[in-house]
Amino acid sequence: MYSLLILAASFLLPAALAAPVAEVSGEPQMIQIDKRQGGYTWSFWQEGSGSHNCQNGQGGSYTANWSGGGGFVCGKGWSPGGNRAVKYSGTYKPTGPGYLSLYGWTKNPLVEYYIVESYDILAPGEPWTKKGNFTIDGEGAYDVYTSQRVNKPSIVGTATFTQYWSVRQEKRVGGTISTGKHFDAWNKLGMRLGQQDYMILATEGFANGTKTASGSSALSLS
Ligand SMILES: *[C@@H]1O[C@H](CO)[C@@H](O)[C@H](O)[C@H]1NC(C)=O
Ligand SMILES: *[C@@H]1O[C@H](CO)[C@@H](O)[C@H](O)[C@H]1NC(C)=O
Ligand SMILES: *[C@@H]1O[C@H](CO)[C@@H](O)[C@H](O)[C@H]1NC(C)=O
Repeated sequence: MYSLLILAASFLLPAALAAPVAEVSGEPQMIQIDKRQGGYTWSFWQEGSGSHNCQNGQGGSYTANWSGGGGFVCGKGWSPGGNRAVKYSGTYKPTGPGYLSLYGWTKNPLVEYYIVESYDILAPGEPWTKKGNFTIDGEGAYDVYTSQRVNKPSIVGTATFTQYWSVRQEKRVGGTISTGKHFDAWNKLGMRLGQQDYMILATEGFANGTKTASGSSALSLS
């Protein structure tokens, strides 16, 4: 609980202390974290002016709908994250930039990671570096990328950090994501993780220039 309170507090720091995020207006804010419902951690972060509705549901379920400017990430999972076979099902109907992903953070080093299952627009103008690919038997083939974020909101306030990406070659909604197999594949590509923080099955949408996001999702962990 102690560390989760710190986590919640640190999400509020950028708004108070740091330079504003360039792409959007409005202050980043963590709406809720650690609403442990059915044993899951619930997280909802947003910034900017858009309409971002995320609703924590029963057990491992949640729903979201969104439109307009700014951005958001919400979802359900675990704190801390780690090696786990994440089974999920549901619907995801996006337009514009954003992802359905298994999403998490580590500290020391500070890494924001994504295992992307589906999306509409993947990387709007953001320079990604391709690191390789790998296949998990029975789960799918993924391409691996890294990217750098400079002075952006993070779990330790505004920071510069690396993002790791596994992007499923064939989009899907529903299945099993063996997180440890992604962590191993990244490690082999020289992509080190730190100490696990939280990890969620996330819905994310954001605006980038003239590209705005809208859509809805209804997802459930099992
Ligand atoms: C969007 O989500 C909110 C909160 O769950 C809900 O009240 C609203 O009806 C939803 N809107 C649409 C268009 O689905
Ligand atoms: C948005 O697009 C600009 C270039 O058009 C790019 O520099 C920036 O990194 C993009 N942001 C995201 C989050 O994709
Ligand atoms: C992985 O990358 C290699 C080298 O670029 C390529 O030959 C191979 O077809 C790729 N495999 C998959 C599953 O994408």
